[in-house]
Amino acid sequence: MRMLITGGAGCLGSNLIERYFPKGYEICVIDNFATGKREVVPVQAGLHLVEGSIADEKLVQETFAFFKPTHVIHSAAAYKDPHDWAEDTATNVLGTVYVAKAALQAGVKRFINFQTALCYGRPNELPIPANHPTAPFTSYGISKTAGEAYLLQSGLPVVSLRLANICGPRLAIGPIPTFYKRLKAGQNCFCSDTMRDFLDMSDFFELMDLVLEENAPTGVFNVSTGEGKSILDVFNAVANYFGMAVPEVPVVPAGADDVVKVVLDPSETERVFGWKAKCNFEETINNQLRWYDSYGVNDIFSHLSSTSSHDKK
Ligand SMILES: NC(=O)c1ccc[n+]([C@@H]2O[C@H](COP(=O)([O-])OP(=O)(O)OC[C@H]3O[C@@H](n4cnc5c(N)ncnc54)[C@H](O)[C@@H]3O)[C@@H](O)[C@H]2O)c1
Repeated sequence: MRMLITGGAGCLGSNLIERYFPKGYEICVIDNFATGKREVVPVQAGLHLVEGSIADEKLVQETFAFFKPTHVIHSAAAYKDPHDWAEDTATNVLGTVYVAKAALQAGVKRFINFQTALCYGRPNELPIPANHPTAPFTSYGISKTAGEAYLLQSGLPVVSLRLANICGPRLAIGPIPTFYKRLKAGQNCFCSDTMRDFLDMSDFFELMDLVLEENAPTGVFNVSTGEGKSILDVFNAVANYFGMAVPEVPVVPAGADDVVKVVLDPSETERVFGWKAKCNFEETINNQLRWYDSYGVNDIFSHLSSTSSHDKK
């Protein structure tokens, strides 16, 4: 398998390198390091790095011509400045289109796309089924939804995975790193009055293995435990991990650009792939916090305008 990972220097991409490179897959990463880190792509025989943007059509064409991927994992996304609509559009729409066109020309066997649950906007039912209408309203959500729509029209064998908050090495967004960093430093926290779903990297990997199998189904799938947890639940879990008497914490209404409750319904994914998340919420949080104990928390990114402790990719 020759696997091109766009955004491979990011959180999910780098975890996928760690999973698939040791299995002998040839891997090529294209990344502009907007939020990713160069050091997670240690170039060596069989692991290539192309530095640059997927919004550069010539670079995308050259990358496909040199690497000749059989599989594409499209993990690159722009989100770090919610006011930079041009960058979100360039990467998430135009970049996606360039990668899709090159993948079509190359005749790739499988194209895996990672989608945000923000594609559903403010859902009218919970948990959100994968056939719920899309109604994004943030720059990140709008541009990612447009990119996904092009992919689904492209004729490529696309699997678009709409993801819960995936927890694992190098997670640098959302309430878990924020609470870990602030509680450890003795700083005050607040919780937004919102609910999210969390999935352990081990469960994500199990699904990825199934999705990459030859002749596996294509289409749009929700990836989640299906279990919603409040941000206060996350705060309490982090405080418990530190063995603290759980401090009083203000719970504030969701920001104007936020969604109050996001919980994805994975039942169709479970039925089609015979997959089910195994790791429960406490294990997922504790795995994450143990990782921060060993490796620390770096920059924390957000795609929300309001200062928030709880954003959602
Ligand atoms: N991690 C999650 O829980 C989660 C949830 C929902 C959706 N997603 C989606 O999964 C994908 C990966 O997310 P992540 O958590 O690893 O984020 P991340 O920020 O760690 O990774 C994104 C990578 O894309 C790179 N990138 C940005 N713009 C680029 C461009 N123009 N050209 C090339 N590379 C570019 C960044 O430098 C980064 O390395 C994204 O598409 C995101 O929308 C992730």
